[in-house]
Amino acid sequence: MPDFLGLNLPVPVLLAPLGGGPGTPALAAAVSRSGGLGTVGSAYFTPEQLLAAAGDTRARTDRPFAMNLFVPALTPTFTPEEERAARAELHAWQAELNVEPVHLQAPYLEDFDAQFQAVLAARPAVLSFTFGQLGAAQLQALRARGIRTLGTATGLREALALEASGVDALILQGGGAGGHRGSWLDDERLGTTDLVRRVRPHVKLPLVAAGGLMTRQDVQAALSAGASLAALGTAFLLADEAGTHPTYRQALEGGGETGLTRAFTGRWARGLVNRAFHEIRHPLPTPAQHALTRPLRQAAAAAGRSELMSLWAGTGVNGARRGLAGSILAQLT
Ligand SMILES: Cc1cc2nc3c(=O)[nH]c(=O)nc-3n(C[C@H](O)[C@H](O)[C@H](O)COP(=O)(O)O)c2cc1C
Repeated sequence: MPDFLGLNLPVPVLLAPLGGGPGTPALAAAVSRSGGLGTVGSAYFTPEQLLAAAGDTRARTDRPFAMNLFVPALTPTFTPEEERAARAELHAWQAELNVEPVHLQAPYLEDFDAQFQAVLAARPAVLSFTFGQLGAAQLQALRARGIRTLGTATGLREALALEASGVDALILQGGGAGGHRGSWLDDERLGTTDLVRRVRPHVKLPLVAAGGLMTRQDVQAALSAGASLAALGTAFLLADEAGTHPTYRQALEGGGETGLTRAFTGRWARGLVNRAFHEIRHPLPTPAQHALTRPLRQAAAAAGRSELMSLWAGTGVNGARRGLAGSILAQLT
């Protein structure tokens, strides 16, 4: 097996970045200890949390691990009418969950530059990122600290743009992937092995295949299509070490249909279809909608109301199993 980015990984599996709770240092370290490449789901972290999570992961393993960031989108614009419509759809939920309306204030997410400086200081072996590209100076700063870079592409145009930018490898996110679509140019939403086959002849970089991969056969198919690693997210959401909220775990164990929605954050994302898919029809652009719905989602989780939570999951969700991450990983190769 060719060596992926000099990391000497015995198992060709990446724990996909799982932001918002599931991708804990314990989960990342367990996957890295078991021979794969773990990712700390750090994209929503403050710089202090990011540094602490890197330290926590290092205390659990001396194997390489990855961290993950969201490339910031342009600050979204919307009219007062659009804001009124988006807020109106949440009134009933606010009353049900006893949550105050949110005061919206850009930039809605953590300050990217401060997060980026924290990654440079934390020095994980790998930084993966999604929703766009990093600039030449940023890639240079990472390279100077020995941090390898993984950009996320959902189609050929994004793959070519990322390769031209100088990243070290690509995550190809197929249409069945759980969580947010990483797209910023175009989203082909192909099956994962089809996406690998489509991109493989056009780029030289090592490829990591993500989306709907749950079994040893799925991993093998992605590798046979030309990927160097298979990235799995949903397969680890029920792992003992995952930080998946109990209400979310329960919903995952119940299984069901997944679909794509912009309802929760304003960005397309795949999760278990619930009431929110039907009742939120006028979301603000990302990340304003994320800020608008976040307190509601948190209150819903605390109240055990999964129908009002973002239950991110890929199309393979009905194959997700409980257990230690190391034993989930062992079943994949
Ligand atoms: C709960 C959850 C959270 C996610 N958070 C992130 C994230 O913070 N950053 C990111 O790049 N991708 C994120 N993703 C996408 C995954 O990295 C990956 O593309 C996806 O899990 C692969 O598909 P699968 O879930 O079918 O295995 C998330 C996915 C899920 C299910």
